[in-house]
Amino acid sequence: MRLILIGPPGAGKGTQAMRLADSHKIPHLSTGDMLRAAIADGSDVGKRAQVIMNAGKLVSDDMVNKIVSDRIDRDDCANGFILDGYPRTLAQADSVDEIFADKKIDLDAVVELRVDDDALVDRITGRFLCASCGEGYHDRYKLPVADGICDNCGSSDFKRRPDDVEDTVRVRLFTYYKQTSPLIGYYYARRKLLRVDGMGSINDVSQGIEKVLEHV
Ligand code: AP5
Repeated sequence: MRLILIGPPGAGKGTQAMRLADSHKIPHLSTGDMLRAAIADGSDVGKRAQVIMNAGKLVSDDMVNKIVSDRIDRDDCANGFILDGYPRTLAQADSVDEIFADKKIDLDAVVELRVDDDALVDRITGRFLCASCGEGYHDRYKLPVADGICDNCGSSDFKRRPDDVEDTVRVRLFTYYKQTSPLIGYYYARRKLLRVDGMGSINDVSQGIEKVLEHV
């Protein structure tokens, strides 16, 4: 299955993509994670991306198109993958078409997570991550089972993202509505769009996604 998860910052794309990757045994490809890895490596791409990401804007289409195309070529994507945070502009959506045509693969569905703005800000400003494996947590909605220990890898090292402060979150939301939300209409017109209420608990949203995917 080849899926795109789309939704505003904090909608739960990363949380749900990790669960889908686990249940469908396909990799989770997050352009945000790939760019953060490039920043951590100190690469040229990372240095250019860091300033833009911390300002809540989008990095260039060329930069992410290349990263995604190269990633899809790896063996673990042979049976499918979940794209989280890509495409994010109409130009990137055109590139998806070109990349998929070039690799002779088809897009199965685009799942849109719908969440109210106030809930998004609340979710993002409470988010923290395992510094070792990247598992996502929240100050109120998803704490590690054992206090201070990552459920996934046992690390006790956690971090917060520099772009998760409220002012930057508001810019990221504006960027989403201006540049990414037109993709909802684009994929609706292509009959690929599946809408899921993202306002419920993490488990409820997972069930909602699996239900719409039954028909794919
Ligand atoms: P990226 O990392 O993709 O960030 P984002 O799209 O802003 O999305 P988030 O990761 O903030 O949220 P999410 O929807 O994954 O939510 P999560 O599951 O973590 O991109 C970062 C930056 O990189 C961009 O701003 C841009 O600069 C650049 N970039 C990336 N891709 C790009 C591209 N294609 N083109 C150009 N630039 C690009 O959940 C959030 C929190 O809520 C967590 O704490 C979680 O535990 C909690 N939570 C999740 N679900 C629920 C629920 N149902 N109920 C309660 N809490 C919940």
